[in-house]
Amino acid sequence: MAIKHYLQFADLTLDEYDYLIERAKIIKRKFKSYEPYHPLTDRTLVMVFEKNSTRTRLSFEAGMHQLGGAAIYLNTRDSQLGRGEPVEDAAQVMSRMCDIIMIRTFGQEIIDRFAAHSRVPVINGLTNEHHPCQVFADVFTYIEHRGTIAGKTVAWVGDANNMLYSWLQAAEVFGFHLNVSTPTGYDINPALVSSDNQRYTVFKNPADACDGSDLVTTDVWTSMGYEEENAARLKAFDGWIVDAAKMQRANKDALFMHCLPAHRGEEVAAEVIDGPQSVVWNEAENRLHVQKALLEYLVLGKI
Ligand code: CP
Ligand code: NVA
Repeated sequence: MAIKHYLQFADLTLDEYDYLIERAKIIKRKFKSYEPYHPLTDRTLVMVFEKNSTRTRLSFEAGMHQLGGAAIYLNTRDSQLGRGEPVEDAAQVMSRMCDIIMIRTFGQEIIDRFAAHSRVPVINGLTNEHHPCQVFADVFTYIEHRGTIAGKTVAWVGDANNMLYSWLQAAEVFGFHLNVSTPTGYDINPALVSSDNQRYTVFKNPADACDGSDLVTTDVWTSMGYEEENAARLKAFDGWIVDAAKMQRANKDALFMHCLPAHRGEEVAAEVIDGPQSVVWNEAENRLHVQKALLEYLVLGKI
């Protein structure tokens, strides 16, 4: 099988996602019933982190162990990547010693260059521009709670960040609509959206974006790597909090999601994230199950 990377959400087709969703359901069931499942015995995942992480590290590392394999954690602080070794060289070396690689880094071009020199599949564990594993877990979580997502409306209230660009790709793949509201000056970068994407509408007013939506979702106002903009962002995003008033504008059975970590009182009110419409803990847990399906698929193909 040709090497398949997962660098952006659109790297997999709807057929592949349908397959992976079925695998993730089976793998989740096995996990919940303590049934051993070791399709990746003797296989190794290398995880490279150039930014902080709790969920991504834990879900990949635990997931690989649960599949019978091993996971090795590298970061920039104590690997040669932090001392300027070219990513092309790192990719050549790492991919001769393992079966699959996950990277969390800054620019998407870094992971693109890495993948171009890798002998094994590379997974995007978050870049400045994309966070496909998280949005895959979110789509899976929506389907688990409400059934098909095709034809539904998802409201994105917040920054035009990595999560939003992955949601924009997911809308095209799965056939749902995205209502997007970002503050002036923090608009969608058209270079990061396919020019024929008809699956989104931009709203000036964040409450209007929530009207009639089936899912309301947001994320931090300041992503990793943009910390020096924090004070300016706090001002610009005033009014973009997802609170009970905005959830009122959504459909009655609308869900709330946040990829976490969250800042209560900034992008989301405690009454929403800790309220009855929030599914954030299931969403976080589902990172484990969908990524195990993804690891199995990228290493072994369809089984
Ligand atoms: N949502 C997410 O990717 O969390 P971490 O930054 O903790 O990995
Ligand atoms: N947009 C956030 C997501 C963190 C999981 C960031 O990039 O920091």
